[in-house]
Amino acid sequence: MSYYQHHIFFCLNQRSGGEACCADHGAQAAFDHCKSRVKAAGLNGPGGVRVNKAGCLDRCAGGPVAVVYPEATWYTFVDNSDIDEIVELHLKQGKVVERLLLAPEIGR
Ligand code: FES
Repeated sequence: MSYYQHHIFFCLNQRSGGEACCADHGAQAAFDHCKSRVKAAGLNGPGGVRVNKAGCLDRCAGGPVAVVYPEATWYTFVDNSDIDEIVELHLKQGKVVERLLLAPEIGR
């Protein structure tokens, strides 16, 4: 059994020079919101969910991005209600949120 049931990583990378990066698209706010929702739902901790910061995940063109393991499900999102849906459906119920999936061809 895994130490965490789900592990979600948010890219918080900031770039200078106008290059695409998740930090320019609300990544920190989404990370903070996810962390507080996971905690409020009592999902955090061993056997539950861990919300982590990450550097560039090299899929910047689709930013902001987050990835959930162990499924390796990649998401992009716009606002807090998208994060709420990922927490409620995926992190709590184990169901993929199809409408927020990052297209497979999106890279840097
Ligand atoms: S800056 Fe977020 S994936 Fe590269």
